[in-house]
Amino acid sequence: MPARQIVFVPDPILRKKAQTVTKFDNDLQVLIDDMVETMREAPGVGLAAPQVGIPFRVAVIEYPENDEDEEAEPRLFTLINPEITRKSTEMVSGPEGCLSMPGYNGEVERHEVVTVKALNRRGQPVTYKAKGWLARIFQHEIDHLNGVLYTDRATKVWKLEPADEQEDSKANAA
Ligand code: CO
Repeated sequence: MPARQIVFVPDPILRKKAQTVTKFDNDLQVLIDDMVETMREAPGVGLAAPQVGIPFRVAVIEYPENDEDEEAEPRLFTLINPEITRKSTEMVSGPEGCLSMPGYNGEVERHEVVTVKALNRRGQPVTYKAKGWLARIFQHEIDHLNGVLYTDRATKVWKLEPADEQEDSKANAA
């Protein structure tokens, strides 16, 4: 059993703007740990708090920082109140999935590079510059905190074959 239940489209919480976190208390630490466990179990590469029914600006991501290096280990990012502070004008298109919409993928244009400012789980400021897939996941999760789903941005959406669903496509779900 995952630590938290993932909520699915059309749950209205997925369409609300999540609230700013102001208390870095024990409840927040438990939420973050539960979200990491739930993301790993799904499995997915990212998860936002509204996806487990919690209306706050918290997201976790686990993905290699440089995915051009095949040996790269995934890195865990915890983002509280994240904001995109810089984005490249260059856009890249790629397939994306969402844990709140299992069985589908879509082609989505994202900024190739983004800089994200956030707080970590202790409330300390952090800045990450991400490119490629990692940048895509950051944008996908921050969208969730604003009630936006990838299907709002997708140029096309398609249903996965059961065989795909088990392999590749799950690796893109966030
Ligand atoms: Co998602």
